[in-house]
Amino acid sequence: MIDFMLNRQTCTHCGACLIDCPARIISLGEDGYPAIASEKESNCYRCEHCLAICPTGSVSILGQHASGSRLLKDAFPDPDALETLIRGRRSVRRFKSDSLEPALLQRLLDVAWQAPTGENSRQVRFTVLDSHDKVVQLRDEVMAGLTRMINNNALPEGMGFFANFVSIWNKHRVDIIFRDAPHLLIVSAPQHVASPMQDCVIALSSFDLFAQANGVGTLWNGLAKCAMNDILPETRYRLGIPDDHLFGYAMVFGKPAMHYVRTVQHGPAQIYRALEGSPPEDPV
Ligand SMILES: Cc1cc2nc3c(=O)[nH]c(=O)nc-3n(C[C@H](O)[C@H](O)[C@H](O)COP(=O)(O)O)c2cc1C
Repeated sequence: MIDFMLNRQTCTHCGACLIDCPARIISLGEDGYPAIASEKESNCYRCEHCLAICPTGSVSILGQHASGSRLLKDAFPDPDALETLIRGRRSVRRFKSDSLEPALLQRLLDVAWQAPTGENSRQVRFTVLDSHDKVVQLRDEVMAGLTRMINNNALPEGMGFFANFVSIWNKHRVDIIFRDAPHLLIVSAPQHVASPMQDCVIALSSFDLFAQANGVGTLWNGLAKCAMNDILPETRYRLGIPDDHLFGYAMVFGKPAMHYVRTVQHGPAQIYRALEGSPPEDPV
């Protein structure tokens, strides 16, 4: 089922795969080679750590071979460059209307999908609008739906401010919800997995950083999420988001129509060093 296979010519019996397996299901067979007993296969986390840690690339699992992996030695980004990315990524609210090249779009999604998930459930789903025309179509439907709700005095409590966005759209054709972006990404996950919300947000954070590293502008979009999921939940059906999925979050993205020259300067970080000295007073 999990297809754990070993190249006996290159395995050095170092035991790294045994020690690192978080499910502890790999043991040395009588012949001295690592193996997984068939009755233990169902406990496999499918994390592929055995493949990742083998120094000689002798392990394959789940149909994946070491030859398909990237080597990690000295290959992580320089910390200063990564720091600049984290400090320098900005919310982009002005976009060019042209679509990303399909290969780039695919790569951004494939890489973001590598993000970790609770219990390695790997059930995060990306729902994507891959052209400006599709975002325009959705925006028009959402604006029409919001207009209906406003006219019927049916906006949910606390969401009256959407009337303002619709009015600005009708009067000035300025789109404060989708920012007239060429792409929209919605991340969802089944409610039943261990940590659907966290899985979605980690995947979207990974997408955000990798997109910006590729010169693609992104905007976390709470307004779009609210409009589509909370005010007009029929939009979920329209977009094919499964009923049993938690709508994690939405992000618009595309080629930016502006560029930032420098980082901003937030901080200092709020850090509380716990368990130092006497305990804090009981909270009142
Ligand atoms: C969860 C989340 C939801 C957001 N929703 C919106 C939104 O609906 N519309 C918008 O213009 N900006 C939205 N933003 C962007 C924030 O306003 C922005 O991150 C903040 O002003 C800081 O700017 P920066 O991201 O450029 O550092 C959102 C950000 C986050 C993290």
